[in-house]
Amino acid sequence: MTDNIETKQFKSLPVWKYSAGIIFVWSFIMLALLLWNYNNEKAATYEAAKIQARTAFEKDVLLRQWNADHGGLYAPITEKTQPNPYLDIPEREISTPSGIKLTKITPAFMTRQIHELALQMSGVRGHITSLKPIRPGNAPDQWESNALASFNKGIKEISSVEKMNGENYMRLMRPLLTDESCLKCHAKQGYRVGDIRGGISVSVPLSPYSEIEKSGIMTLFIINGIIWFAGVMGIGAGMFFLDHQVHHRLKAEEALRHKEKLQGIIEMSGAVCHELNQPLQAISGNAELLLMSIKKDDPAYKKIINIQHQADRMGKITKKLMGITSYKTKAYLNETIIDIDKAAK
Ligand code: HEC
Repeated sequence: MTDNIETKQFKSLPVWKYSAGIIFVWSFIMLALLLWNYNNEKAATYEAAKIQARTAFEKDVLLRQWNADHGGLYAPITEKTQPNPYLDIPEREISTPSGIKLTKITPAFMTRQIHELALQMSGVRGHITSLKPIRPGNAPDQWESNALASFNKGIKEISSVEKMNGENYMRLMRPLLTDESCLKCHAKQGYRVGDIRGGISVSVPLSPYSEIEKSGIMTLFIINGIIWFAGVMGIGAGMFFLDHQVHHRLKAEEALRHKEKLQGIIEMSGAVCHELNQPLQAISGNAELLLMSIKKDDPAYKKIINIQHQADRMGKITKKLMGITSYKTKAYLNETIIDIDKAAK
């Protein structure tokens, strides 16, 4: 086993796990933001359609008020403007001195005619109605009668998106309250000032708004997509950089540790050499003297040669110890020890 820094695998951060986690959280935040913006966009579209519907309602009320303040207005009888069979007042029809026939136009009749014009002009549908209609044709549909019922409970405005003839509309309805000017004609039905006489429902087609909404939503998706992607790239780059830094640092720390160990080893081996040299020289010198004092065929001669030989080997080992320049280890029994051969190269 070698302990080389260059080839050692460092246990660094689990970068990809971290990145995936952060990207997951990031994506979740972006998705929530997208949904929130999407809902806002939808709500803004509906609010715009509601404003249009309210404006139409208010204009109707204004025109009706002007008419009612005059107790109804006279207009020439034409094919479209026939005497109102539900209007039971004296002088419903009159003639001008030159003989032109005029009939009284009630606010409700005027409203109906204006609604017809508005439908042709802008597709906005208006309907004047009541839970107790004088004219059966003014009867409410289901949505309108629900709205009228809520007005009786004190609610001031009802609106919702509804499908009519396969198209989406913003339907909005507000009550028409009885005032002094209405009583000229409606008092006999038992209405008093402040009563809810009925209401006007306005239905604004949503298709023109949907076009604007579509492009708004498209922009929303594109911008959110770009921000999300930039975020993912940023997280990836950041984690890569962090991993690189940590790796670098671990390596530097390991190198420092090796250097410190090596320093210790060099000091130790220097001391060992220094201390061993003298006894070794003494062994060699004494062996030399012994050899000179005995003959070659003496049985001890070979043994003394061997002693000399081993002392030389030890001398070589101490030289090697002095030559240690790097930190290299090997396995020995259950331990890791310095590999002197490799370390001294
Ligand atoms: C000149 C008489 C006259 C005046 C003034 C008048 N109305 Fe009417 N109104 C009628 C007649 C007649 C009808 C039913 C026939 C029709 O639709 O023209 C009617 C219909 C209505 C309707 C539709 C429901 C139904 O009963 O058919 C409402 C709602 C209504 N009037 C509210 C009012 C309010 C609110 C005022 C006061 C601001 C008012 N009217 C003033 C004569 C009048």
